[in-house]
Amino acid sequence: MKLFLKTVLLSAIVCLCYPLSAAPKSDDGKVSEKEIARRVETLMKKMTLREKLGQLTQLRPSTGTVTGPSGEPMVVEDFIREGCCGSLLSVRKSEDITRYQRIAVDSSRLGIPLLFGKDIIHGCRIVFPENLGLSSSWDMDVIEKSARIAAAESAAYGIAWTFSPMCDISTDPRWGRVSEGSGEDPYLGSAIARAMVHGYQGDDLADKSTIIACVKHFAAYGAPQAGRDYHTVDMSERMFRDRYLPPYRAAVEAGAATVMSSFNDFDAIPATGNKWLLQTVLRDELGFKGFVVTDYNAVHEMVEHGVAADGKEAAALAMDAHVNMDMVDSDFIKYGEELVREKRISEKTIDMLCREVLAVKFRLGLFDDPFRYGGKARENEFYLPENMEVARDAARKSMVLLQNNDDILPLNGTERIALIGPYGNSGDEMLGAWRGYGESSRAVTFLAGLQERFGRENVSFSEGCKPFAAIEGGADAAVAAARDADVVLLTLGLPSKCSGEATSLTSIEVPQAQRDLLDAVAATGKPVVVLLVTGRPMDIGYETEKADAVLLTWHAGTMAGKALADVVSGDFNPSGRLSMTFPLNIGQVPVHYNMKRTGRPMLDPASRAKYLSRYMFTPNEPRYCFGYGLSYTTFDYSDLKVLTPEVAVGEPVKVSVKVTNSGKRDGAEVVQLYIRDLVASTTRPVRELKGFERVFLKAGESKTVEFVIRPEDMAFCRRDMKFAQEAGDFHVWAGHDSNAELQGMFTVK
Ligand code: GLC
Repeated sequence: MKLFLKTVLLSAIVCLCYPLSAAPKSDDGKVSEKEIARRVETLMKKMTLREKLGQLTQLRPSTGTVTGPSGEPMVVEDFIREGCCGSLLSVRKSEDITRYQRIAVDSSRLGIPLLFGKDIIHGCRIVFPENLGLSSSWDMDVIEKSARIAAAESAAYGIAWTFSPMCDISTDPRWGRVSEGSGEDPYLGSAIARAMVHGYQGDDLADKSTIIACVKHFAAYGAPQAGRDYHTVDMSERMFRDRYLPPYRAAVEAGAATVMSSFNDFDAIPATGNKWLLQTVLRDELGFKGFVVTDYNAVHEMVEHGVAADGKEAAALAMDAHVNMDMVDSDFIKYGEELVREKRISEKTIDMLCREVLAVKFRLGLFDDPFRYGGKARENEFYLPENMEVARDAARKSMVLLQNNDDILPLNGTERIALIGPYGNSGDEMLGAWRGYGESSRAVTFLAGLQERFGRENVSFSEGCKPFAAIEGGADAAVAAARDADVVLLTLGLPSKCSGEATSLTSIEVPQAQRDLLDAVAATGKPVVVLLVTGRPMDIGYETEKADAVLLTWHAGTMAGKALADVVSGDFNPSGRLSMTFPLNIGQVPVHYNMKRTGRPMLDPASRAKYLSRYMFTPNEPRYCFGYGLSYTTFDYSDLKVLTPEVAVGEPVKVSVKVTNSGKRDGAEVVQLYIRDLVASTTRPVRELKGFERVFLKAGESKTVEFVIRPEDMAFCRRDMKFAQEAGDFHVWAGHDSNAELQGMFTVK
């Protein structure tokens, strides 16, 4: 009875103190920031220092999904009851989310709701293609939709906070986390970051189907030395501002509610204790108003970095750098009171850090209804058919046709198909890394999708080998299957476990066991289409020699099988374009389209001159460049017009180009626009993407596409360190990929 009365009394206090629904709303129907600030102050006045530190503490329940080195097990319920936990990470079960929230609201002194976070980075229940695949669609609409659906399913599950978008530019396929990002280009990466933040957060954070985004990993985590995860990041401020900062900025400008500090050091100071990054750049320059959470254990790992003697010093460094929330290692709650007592951190700082966390919780409407996310009533919001179709569309748009000798694809529908290889009949291998609450049992395998499209009797399957090992008799069975078929679809590449965090590789070749299988199958003389399943660019030189066609499928998500069938049947004309360069081999890495010219540029790939920036026995050019991808039709470009050949600084530049579908099949093309600043106060990339547009053209149809290059798109970190435009002459290209040849020129006066 006592507990019941206490629960009623506590719930009454919670509702009386912060009934946001009754709060005055501004014109757009949202609770005003002024009102939220008032609510925060009302609550702060009631909080003890320990309770404020609790709001700065995110814990992982021992039953939670492990996404890092597991520290000492802890009973999170006790921390919650004592008001010493503000957020939980990676809770596995929806019912546990509700249970933990009930403890927080009913059993802690002030009943402050918990914020539940999870890595929903390419889908929650419905899994979309891994992000590098999604970025290859160059389709901002489908990318935003994927985030919106992920948010709606996350909210239905009980998760109000996703650790996404990952905005780390990377040019190194040895780093397995390229699978989580949007590739090598700042302009494309910025567009995708904006689309994802809008998808997750929508127009109103208080809507029960929107969740808060988290821009990660701040900053420049995608540039670890040697492509080795967590390794040192060392670059000039200029390189950071020109190439790595833009997508983070775009996500912040899109209103991202939170940011995650990264594991790596930056200019020899770990990002989690780096005040230049977290205060000067993120808040003072970019105007970020939300809160910063660290990456997993990253406060305490400053001891390993060697910049803190112990957890207490690490906590002080992080708080002073303006980190709001400590993920998992709980150094804030362990040492925060001592640090205040010793005057190494002021209570004023703790108040500021706490205020920013509470404001986000209020914006989410958590105080209004702590149980708005999750719960039994929302279980019917998963796997909605219309959302499954969006996932199918995203998957087929992400697939990139890399090679198609003699137009072997699309299939004509009469062939007997032998599907062979370790990824052909696996739902798990379709989901990739960071699969949210995805269920491999719900994934449409390649086999299922092909049999549904072409008929069970026309599609056989033979595993052939495991990703890294032969199967006894596997190759023989695969050869027999190939002999009985008219065409082989051979799945090769890397498994889901080789994608994502802590998956750095020193080789990006297809594992030998799979190459052996390719040799055996190719020896039958049957046409071979390689289906490349991977989360990163690979060195597929050997495969392109042996196969007739190569279709890059990525880890394509829950609807992989249907999307694959759509593409190989020709029901959908592939339109994916690479967002990250495929090197000839690992020796070229890092290799990307927007490199600098150098003082001895190798302008003619056939040149035999010695003293040029080149390799002795390998070309500089990659296997497939940024923006590359084939179609079942062809697109021709003509009439590039620079509509404003001369503009003043601060004025936009207008360029148009005509694109024609010169083939026999309707299809989508990604028209790309690149510029080069010919002479500037610093060296500039040989090309920079400054516009793109997906256009659908019927066979024979033409369209004139117009681009506007905004002055801010031409800004860069000049010699004077100002991020601004400069006058000068520019080349401009429009075309199919970063090797586009149709060229024009304009001058900025
Ligand atoms: C991991 C990852 C980060 C993720 C976090 C929470 O270590 O680095 O991307 O959001 O921990 O799972």
